[in-house]
Amino acid sequence: MLTSAAFLIRQPIEDKVNQLLSQMTLPEKVGQLNQINGFDDSARLRLQQGEVGSILNLNAALPGPNPSPAVIVEAANAVQRMAVNESRLGIPLLFGRDVIHGFRTVFPIPLAQAAAWDPATVEQGAAIAADEATSQGVKWTFAPMVDIARDPRWGRVAEGAGEDPFLGSAIAAAAVRGFQGEDLSDPRRLLACAKHFVGYGGAQGGRDYESVEMSVRTLRDVYLPPFHAAVRQGVATLMAAFHDLNGIPLNAHRELLTDLLRAEWGFKGFVVSDWRSVIELVNHGIAADPAEAAYAGLVAGVDMDMVSDVYRQHLPELVADGHLSEAQIHEAARRILRLKFLAGLFENPYTDPARHRSTLLKPEYLQFARQFARQTMVLLKNEQLLPIDGRFKRILFTGPFVHARGELLGTWNVDGRAEDVTPLSQAVREIAPTGHELFFVENTDEALHLAQHVDLVVALVGEHPSRSGENRNVSDLSLPPGQTQLVQALADLGVPLAVVVFAGRPLAIPHETRLADALLYAWHPGSEGGFALADLLFGLAQPSGRLPITIPRRTGQVPIYYAHKPSGRPVGSTTEFLTRYVDLPYSPLFPFGFGLGYTSFTYHNLEISEPHMTGETQISAEVTNQGSLPGIETAQLYLRDVHASVARPVKELKGFQRLELQPGETRRVTFTVSATDLVFTSYNDLPRVEPGDYQVWIGPNSTAGLQGSFTLDI
Ligand code: GLC
Repeated sequence: MLTSAAFLIRQPIEDKVNQLLSQMTLPEKVGQLNQINGFDDSARLRLQQGEVGSILNLNAALPGPNPSPAVIVEAANAVQRMAVNESRLGIPLLFGRDVIHGFRTVFPIPLAQAAAWDPATVEQGAAIAADEATSQGVKWTFAPMVDIARDPRWGRVAEGAGEDPFLGSAIAAAAVRGFQGEDLSDPRRLLACAKHFVGYGGAQGGRDYESVEMSVRTLRDVYLPPFHAAVRQGVATLMAAFHDLNGIPLNAHRELLTDLLRAEWGFKGFVVSDWRSVIELVNHGIAADPAEAAYAGLVAGVDMDMVSDVYRQHLPELVADGHLSEAQIHEAARRILRLKFLAGLFENPYTDPARHRSTLLKPEYLQFARQFARQTMVLLKNEQLLPIDGRFKRILFTGPFVHARGELLGTWNVDGRAEDVTPLSQAVREIAPTGHELFFVENTDEALHLAQHVDLVVALVGEHPSRSGENRNVSDLSLPPGQTQLVQALADLGVPLAVVVFAGRPLAIPHETRLADALLYAWHPGSEGGFALADLLFGLAQPSGRLPITIPRRTGQVPIYYAHKPSGRPVGSTTEFLTRYVDLPYSPLFPFGFGLGYTSFTYHNLEISEPHMTGETQISAEVTNQGSLPGIETAQLYLRDVHASVARPVKELKGFQRLELQPGETRRVTFTVSATDLVFTSYNDLPRVEPGDYQVWIGPNSTAGLQGSFTLDI
């Protein structure tokens, strides 16, 4: 595993970096800190003058369901030849791109991937994405996005792993492993980028780019852990976020970008700004002009300026005027050059132009995408309706997603193409066993007419990817206009009704939940999402997804998450004065960790090996598949620090394990808990472990399970 230490011990590379730096002029060093977007003739002059270190979006792709032309490997090689052959020192470029959830083979959106609770599968997906992207000349992805998010109004909740730092950390590390592998110089691996450092998901009102106010304790115990997991995994780069945190913009936040990231965590890679976020320090009001913005960014610890051009324009003059020492630029250039050497770019700057023909959309990659999508969908309700069997001869599929193609790809899809996607209706036709008469109707009137003559209606509703992702925040978590009415009208006909929701965020769907006989949350499932849905609907596979984020009853409940503090007047208190709404139950619509299958599981015989723990203890329970079908259960371990020097969450996820159990099969699931798992940020903002009582639960989600307790004696 490539750890931070690995950056130091590879002396031959350090010698090469030092030797190259010794030849470089100040403008050439600054050039390595400069990233441009796309490429045109004006950029060629910059390359020749050594003023560009990295290019993102070669061929200028735009995120969304209908991306612009993808990367063409011949173009990447041609531009690389200009940098290598036409500049004084021939330093190769680092081509970056948003390879967020697949490249040409598109996987479920990251929030859906988190619903699989399966880091190994996330890792495999990232490795496939790396293989496809590198076949087109890409060598750096701006992923994984590891921002904790507890406000579904924020569009970028789609890009992360949900609300929990433990699950988020496991997924962050897995994604880094998948993208980077063991050796960055492997031509099939990408440099990864943990983003958006840090606290971005706490945007006020769920409005992207808004200020974030949070305590050091919340920052350290909730939002930083996935980044720390990525750094411990050896992530090559981090991206500094757009927002201000407690008044300090991240791009000028030396305490976090340098003191914490480098001095405390030992991060040895480099930090890239987000899109123009360095020059935006002027908008934040902490820089009077672009030159001051450049100064503030570099001094804080932003090594590379993404497309605002202020480093290239102003750093040389800031050194000339004595405002900056060349040493700071030298160090930033060192970090970038070190990674270019580690990535093998000097030995092998070009990509085999034929590789992509045998790489993109490999059948085994599409098969994996289908299996992955199946694992991510969450069955939220099932009144003995699913899987669809012989009870239902005539089946109507309707709703805005009935013929979905590109819509299944979700947000931040840069290189996936709608034409690669089998339309949902066609996928269902191909998968449905014979004996069913299937109807696929998008027109509401026609659907309501037909619905009176069928045995089952499947309503395919949800949000279009254009309403999900960056700068796609919503003030109302209801289904988009007209869809609730459609579900109501269908339900009024009294025909068995299954509702499938496609979304990039949790949607507040209490009414639809009541009306549906079965409810399946499909997120935006990627290239093979139609087949994956059909597999689950017709019982060719078992639903096994579990919610990585709480689903609220109503927008007004937000923020709502399971690991909340107890409050002095917790719900359930005897007093009439307790924390609640007068117009809504306190509980969410569906809790973190929740999901159903086509079978059911029971938990019994909780055991705690060391009820008085000093070093570590094993906490275990038996899980039984008590149904008649095989199933996959994700057993979850939660802990509560009952009394501490600060108020602690009522529960915190500390372990999970996926169990495939045959009907009647019982297996004991065991978790090891050590004192280091109990560390939290205490009253003085320092990490502590405190002796005392801890409650434990092993169960199917954050609201259920076998309860026990142990005492930590130190
Ligand atoms: C965007 C996003 C960031 C992305 C970058 C490059 O604005 O904030 O996540 O990686 O710009 O596209």
